[in-house]
Amino acid sequence: MARLPVLVLAVSLAVLAWPASCKSVRSVLAPVTKDPATRLYTIPFHYGANIVVDTAGPLVWSTCTPDHLPAAFPCKSDTCRLANKYHVPSCSESAADKLCDPSHKVCRAFPYNPVTGACAAGDLIHTRFVANTTDGKNPVSQVNVRAVAACAPSKLLESLPQGASGVAGLAGSDLALPAQVASAQKVSNKFLLCLPRGLSSDPGVAVFGGGPLHFMAQPERDYTKELAYTPLVAKKGNPAHYITIKSIAVESASVPVPAQALATGGAVLCTRSPFTLLRSDVFLPLVDAFTKALARQGAQGGPVAKAVKPYAPFQLCYDTRTLANTRTGYLVPAVTLTLGGGKNWRMDGLSLMVDMGPTTACLAFVQMQGVKGGDGSAPSVLIGGFQMENTVLEFDMKKKRLGFARLPSFTQCGQFNFTTRSA
Ligand SMILES: *[C@@H]1O[C@H](CO)[C@@H](O)[C@H](O)[C@H]1NC(C)=O
Ligand SMILES: *[C@@H]1O[C@H](CO)[C@@H](O)[C@H](O)[C@H]1NC(C)=O
Repeated sequence: MARLPVLVLAVSLAVLAWPASCKSVRSVLAPVTKDPATRLYTIPFHYGANIVVDTAGPLVWSTCTPDHLPAAFPCKSDTCRLANKYHVPSCSESAADKLCDPSHKVCRAFPYNPVTGACAAGDLIHTRFVANTTDGKNPVSQVNVRAVAACAPSKLLESLPQGASGVAGLAGSDLALPAQVASAQKVSNKFLLCLPRGLSSDPGVAVFGGGPLHFMAQPERDYTKELAYTPLVAKKGNPAHYITIKSIAVESASVPVPAQALATGGAVLCTRSPFTLLRSDVFLPLVDAFTKALARQGAQGGPVAKAVKPYAPFQLCYDTRTLANTRTGYLVPAVTLTLGGGKNWRMDGLSLMVDMGPTTACLAFVQMQGVKGGDGSAPSVLIGGFQMENTVLEFDMKKKRLGFARLPSFTQCGQFNFTTRSA
């Protein structure tokens, strides 16, 4: 009995020592690749299977091989309840009485395709996310992260990148990949995302569990130390990552959007959409302000931008021979979003203009379809993949905040060093 206090002391010292020695290598790394055809992003999941990154998705799902073990999740388990916490609007099947597969009494989930919206019923199973841990500079060592995923029929892969076999939901839900890595690896429920621009360039990076994050150009610089923050806003019944946009400016002039336009519906970060979508009550005044500011640049002695026939789905396209080129892309008026908390997300030519032909570049904002201006059931701004590229984003579900930092023009998300450091 007398020895017990010593033992307790030894254990507590070990616990104290643990975070210092191991914390930095429990975060999990995934290279992020952009698919040229769909402009969606994928990460490797295990054994050659790639799955699509969906920042608004609540679950992980894939087309499981028929030989997977029978599911260990009874219909009445907590995990089954969590898998069905968010109702899928397009999914008529996902009624409570359908959560059980009657033939073998296991939990069913309702994975859905983030592009087409189609859904299907599938068993919930145990799987593994096979990846490397990282210290924020290099991969360190391989890990098998235990995870729960839903199985889906292969018809659910329609419109996803060729070769992709499922979806990695990265929303704020308990069965999204970040929360699953957090509980398996004992890391914080947050992740870093740095989406690559180039369709053929080196992969960008996702780090589950959080920073630091370094790139090769300046290996000592940790970009997670340079983040500006804005609160993540919880929406009832929706686990996607919402933020607040207070105002929008083109150059330094505020865009006259109707009062409440930005507040109704909020703004959401969504890799499902290759480009940023704006509800019409925000889109029309922004396009108007942008056109006028670009014309002023010409009137003040800059090149006079010549508008050309737009490429769908864009509405404003220009002849690139009439646009000046700079380190930060085409010289066009910058668009600045002032976010909740007061920090600015500034978008310059690299984030605003997309090349659509040999001599055509378009303003990479798209008007939302099927929703009226002011309709609060849709977000007023949906920030799409193109505008998130080459920006370090930290989604922190624990602290309920989004960190963001645009990478300087001399580096890119594709500059992470994927060479394992030799011990
Ligand atoms: C771990 O990193 C090494 C070095 O980059 C790479 O060869 C290997 O494929 C990675 N493993 C996984 C599972 O991603
Ligand atoms: C990448 O990391 C490895 C291992 O730390 C290092 O030896 C190599 O010099 C790095 N490469 C570059 C280009 O920084």
